[in-house]
Amino acid sequence: MNRFRRLRINESVRNLVAETQLNIKDFIYPLFVIDGKNIKEAVESMPGVFRYSIDRLDEILKEVDESGVSGLLLFGIPGHKDARGSDAYNPDGIVQRAIRYIKERYPRLILIADICLCEYTDHGHCGLISGHTILNDDTLPLLAQMAVTCVDAGADMVAPSDMMDGDVEAIRDALDANGYENIPIMGYSAKFASGYYSPFRDAAGSAPGFGDRRSYQMDIRNGREAIREVENDIIQGADIVMVKPALAYLDVVKEASQNFDYPIAVYNVSGEYSMVKAAAANGWIDEKRIVLENFYAMKRAGASVIITYHALDAAKWIREEA
Ligand code: PBG
Ligand code: ZN
Repeated sequence: MNRFRRLRINESVRNLVAETQLNIKDFIYPLFVIDGKNIKEAVESMPGVFRYSIDRLDEILKEVDESGVSGLLLFGIPGHKDARGSDAYNPDGIVQRAIRYIKERYPRLILIADICLCEYTDHGHCGLISGHTILNDDTLPLLAQMAVTCVDAGADMVAPSDMMDGDVEAIRDALDANGYENIPIMGYSAKFASGYYSPFRDAAGSAPGFGDRRSYQMDIRNGREAIREVENDIIQGADIVMVKPALAYLDVVKEASQNFDYPIAVYNVSGEYSMVKAAAANGWIDEKRIVLENFYAMKRAGASVIITYHALDAAKWIREEA
C-alpha cells in the first residue's frame, strides 16, 4: 500500500516536505492616494482599506514599511477629471506628488506606479474616447507620458493596466528615450474583463460612465488567448507579467509559468478581497486560514509576486507561522 500518511504524521515532517512557501517579500500592497488635505476615507466595499491624502500617508506607510512587504502599487485619485485624463501625466499630479513624498521617506519600498487613465478621465474609460469608441493608438503616448512623469518623480517600476495593444512597447520606448532603460515594466498582461473589480471602482471612482471594458480587457472565456497576451507583453519588453484576477484564473497562471521563464505576478483583486472580508465578518470562515490557503494556491500555480489588499495581515500571519 502507498502510505501517504507517513509524511503527514506531525507538523515537523509536514514542514520538511512542504512544496510551497510564502515569503513576506512576495507581497505588494496596493495603495489609494487622494487629492486634498487631512483625508483618511474608508472604502465602504473593502473593509480595512482607506484612501489617504498625502499629509495622512505616514499612518499607513509606517505600517507598510515595518511589515516587510516588498512595495506598493500606487493609484491616484485626482481632484479634477477631464476627457483626456490630464492629471494622469501631469508632473505635479496626485500620483506623481505621492511618489515623490514616499520615495524620499521610505527608500526601502519598491514604488510601482499603476499606469492607466481611468481614474483620471471624466468618462471612466482607460483610454481616450471618440463617441463610444475607446481609442487605442491615440492613448499610447499619454500612457507613455504618465510612465515617464511617474519615474521622474521616483517610481521604481511601472505597471500599465490599460489593456491597450502596444502599451508596453510604447512605455519601454519612452522610458529608454528618457534615460530610464533600467526601470522595469510589469505588464498587466492577461487582465480579464471581470466582475471582481467593482469594489476597486468604488475605491478609485473609476467606473466607466458608459458601456463596459470588454472591448479592451480580455474575454473571461479565453485561456489560450491569455497566453498569447502574456507572450506579446514579453515581446514588447515586459520584465514581469501579470495575471488578473488571481483565483478564478489560476489555470492561466500555471500555463504562463510553464511556458515563460519570467516572473509571474498575480493581482488578488478587490472583489476577491471583499468576498473574504464579508464572509469573515459574518463568522462564516476563518479569515487567516482562507487567505493563506488562497496565497498557497497562487504560488502552487506558479506566481512569484502577489499583489493584495491582505498584504499587511499576511505579513503578520506569516511571521506568526514562522
Ligand atoms: C485600472 C485598474 C483596475 C484595477 C487595477 N487597475 C480596475 C479596472 O480595470 O476596472 C482593478 C484592481 C482591483 O479590482 O483590485 N485600470
Ligand atoms: Zn484603467
